[in-house]
Amino acid sequence: MSANDMRRPSVKIHQTAELACEAVAELIAGRIRREPSVTLGLATGATPRMVYKSLIGRSDVSWRAVRCFNLDEYVGLAPDHPASFAYYMRDLLFDHIDIDPGQVHIPDGSASDIEAAASAYEEKIAENGGIALQLLGIGRNGHIGFNEPGSAHDSRTREVLLTQSTIDANRRDFPEGETPPATALTMGIGTILEAREIVLLATGSAKAEALAAALQGPVSLDCPASALWRHGAVSVFCDEAAAEKLNIETLKGRGSASAAA
Ligand code: PGA
Repeated sequence: MSANDMRRPSVKIHQTAELACEAVAELIAGRIRREPSVTLGLATGATPRMVYKSLIGRSDVSWRAVRCFNLDEYVGLAPDHPASFAYYMRDLLFDHIDIDPGQVHIPDGSASDIEAAASAYEEKIAENGGIALQLLGIGRNGHIGFNEPGSAHDSRTREVLLTQSTIDANRRDFPEGETPPATALTMGIGTILEAREIVLLATGSAKAEALAAALQGPVSLDCPASALWRHGAVSVFCDEAAAEKLNIETLKGRGSASAAA
């Protein structure tokens, strides 16, 4: 196998979003069972909701020693704001599992010194031995975390300006009449690529174009997710809708794609 082959992300196509999410939940649960103090990187957004739902209430999985780092947070939102990612994580996962709140880390978007908060976040990840397994979604514009097109592939945790399409996509989470923040604190692409294993979850036809660009287009700043080619251990879980623009035969020929039941 050549070095290029080793870098190829594996792609598992499930019939439905539910099945893709269930497979990712199984993977995370299995990892926690094998490695009870694993350091996980977690994502927010609409896509992983079902993953978290499936992870709650598993009597054979203890989160007591698990350490978690979230990818990003809006700048200027307090952790109790219902559209903050801190709130999302508590609401969908942390309030329902036996995790030690001291082991939960989310970028501090309400810090008075955002630059210092960004460096502190990087240090905290390093102190915890780095991220073993990072869960990622993908934006319609190919972003990972809040790394919008143009983000350097070696970027670190920092404040970023959100594109209009990202702001519009996330407006659904904000009370009517409230303008979403224009910036966010996000792990950089370089930070994400240091995770030892990466799982990218993409569901729905709105992600089809971004997924095809990430997996079949050139590695380029225009598609932040294309940077995943620089990583040796990426698994993509998607549903048929998100896979609709993939050239399955080509991917299968390269040994990258497989259909899941
Ligand atoms: P979504 O966001 O799951 O809400 O579509 C994914 C992302 O922007 O990474």
